[in-house]
Amino acid sequence: MLIIDKELFVGKGFHRECYQHPQDHTKCLKITFKQPKKGGKKGVAKALKREVDQYKILNKRITDWSMLSNYYGEQETNLGKCSVFELIRDDNGQVSRSLEQYLLEPNLTETELIQIKQCIPLLKAYLIKNNIITQKILARNIVFQRSNTPFLVIIDDIGNSDFLPLANYVKTVGEKKINRIFSRFIKHLKNTYITERSPKKVNEMLRSL
Ligand SMILES: Nc1ncnc2c1ncn2[C@@H]1O[C@H](COP(=O)(O)OP(=O)(O)OP(=O)(O)O)[C@@H](O)[C@H]1O
Ligand SMILES: [Mg+2]
Repeated sequence: MLIIDKELFVGKGFHRECYQHPQDHTKCLKITFKQPKKGGKKGVAKALKREVDQYKILNKRITDWSMLSNYYGEQETNLGKCSVFELIRDDNGQVSRSLEQYLLEPNLTETELIQIKQCIPLLKAYLIKNNIITQKILARNIVFQRSNTPFLVIIDDIGNSDFLPLANYVKTVGEKKINRIFSRFIKHLKNTYITERSPKKVNEMLRSL
């Protein structure tokens, strides 16, 4: 059993806490701490199953994990059962920060902003090329990986919630679905992060998408 020290804490979403793997700096451990009201336990279990199912499909099919954090199964820890994922780090070894953190950062540099803008169509092309079906794409579920070749990397909300998940198997259906999900992602960026308090350059970049 793995022992997770609170010092290994990386971040927290609405349902899960994320820790660095104590024995492998390339991996992280995610533990569910809260069941959402809507759908309750069943809803969370379903979403996790969808995630695992999608990763099973992807593991057979894709070799390029540059814009999606890989999944390595389950692991028992002192905090309970965790899901093991690839931990995304920048070139300098720091854990990559979320796109949301960058967009809300008052000191975001011009270079970072340009790179983020360039990474958005690359992410879309990557999802379509590999037929990767996500649920909603949200800025808090993507990290910006800073390096010589920066990427936006999806870290959460993988899976297809359709009753008949045809998009997983038929690429043309998958592409249509990814286009729809991506349009909603761009709308979400504009609706959420274009604000009066945001730096002018962030608002301008988002308007130009
Ligand atoms: N693979 C990863 N690499 C780097 N950081 C990560 C990774 N996975 C999670 N994190 C960090 O931990 C936070 C919480 O993880 P995650 O988004 O998986 O939790 P969640 O509760 O499922 O989220 P949500 O509220 O969207 O349901 C993220 O916002 C991010 O800052
Ligand atoms: Mg999340």
